[in-house]
Amino acid sequence: DWTTGNVIEEQVAVIRSQVGDGKVICGLSGGVDSAVAAALVHEAVGDQLTCVFVDHGLLRAGEAEQVETDYVAATGIRLKVVDAADQFLAALDGVSDPETKRKIIGREFIRVFEAAAREVVAEGAAEASSEDEQVRFLVQGTLYPDVVESGGGEGAANIKSHHNVGGLPDDLQFELVEPLRTLFKDEVRAVGAELGLPEAMVWRQPFPGPGLAIRIVGAVNQARLETLRAADAIAREELTKAGLDREIWQCPVVLLADVRSVGVQGDGRTYGHPIVLRPVSSEDAMTADWTRLPYDVLARISTRITNEVADVNRVALDVTSKPPGTIEWE
Ligand code: XMP
Repeated sequence: DWTTGNVIEEQVAVIRSQVGDGKVICGLSGGVDSAVAAALVHEAVGDQLTCVFVDHGLLRAGEAEQVETDYVAATGIRLKVVDAADQFLAALDGVSDPETKRKIIGREFIRVFEAAAREVVAEGAAEASSEDEQVRFLVQGTLYPDVVESGGGEGAANIKSHHNVGGLPDDLQFELVEPLRTLFKDEVRAVGAELGLPEAMVWRQPFPGPGLAIRIVGAVNQARLETLRAADAIAREELTKAGLDREIWQCPVVLLADVRSVGVQGDGRTYGHPIVLRPVSSEDAMTADWTRLPYDVLARISTRITNEVADVNRVALDVTSKPPGTIEWE
């Protein structure tokens, strides 16, 4: 019968028999699925696994540290971090169109991940004493719903959509290891919790692969990222404090970087940017309703953002369901 302990035990056995003495690589996105998949593989084959984390500089406050510090401390996983923030920012310079942003990020991601994967393969080959010990496996956090119906939702949120095996060059062919293929999201979270992963990762709400870049309406730059990160951190903190995390599917926080409105702050007129809160309730992200957040929580978020975040003088609430609005603004 289904218990988290049984699932872990069973998957560990399956992974061991699939992988043998081979080495394994896994890309971490900061999301739940890749984190739990990697932790399971690590439980099964220890240091035969190397993880790669491409920091594209588009994550929210604290998320890169969560992977690099908390996750590594909790698992002991061998992690290669690639700080590619400057490269992504340069590639995104001056780009406002949402689809173009997505394409650029997808393309850069594959480039950077591939280069890192090549290094891991080369280092692995140098260490290996036989063919059987080379890097031949790639972990993916594919869930049961992704298997049944590919695409959509957070299933698409990480490496797998950017980087399915078909997209890899011929000299980098890996066999897939997919330890979450039979699991639903809540089961994946239970496995992650049982394996001792950081709470904030296990319970992370869906977050798009292109990250904050598609929550800045307008071109992306460092200053705008910092503004959005600060506002987003406040919104998340207040929602968590109010105990609303599990009620809300996700709450994108959006910076309207190309819009300005007049405000009055302190004893002066300001001409700043609006922040939009987009709290939604949903079962699967295919449809969604806007979440009726308590007014006092909205008031706290609004007051804090306008007080604490420079350049923001207005907070707006998105009260559109999906359809017609998508969850993200871009
Ligand atoms: P939309 O905006 O289409 O979002 O209603 C549905 C769900 O998918 C997430 N999302 C993405 N995830 N890459 C991803 O990995 C993307 O490009 C992307 N766009 C949207 C979104 O956060 C929501 O959960």
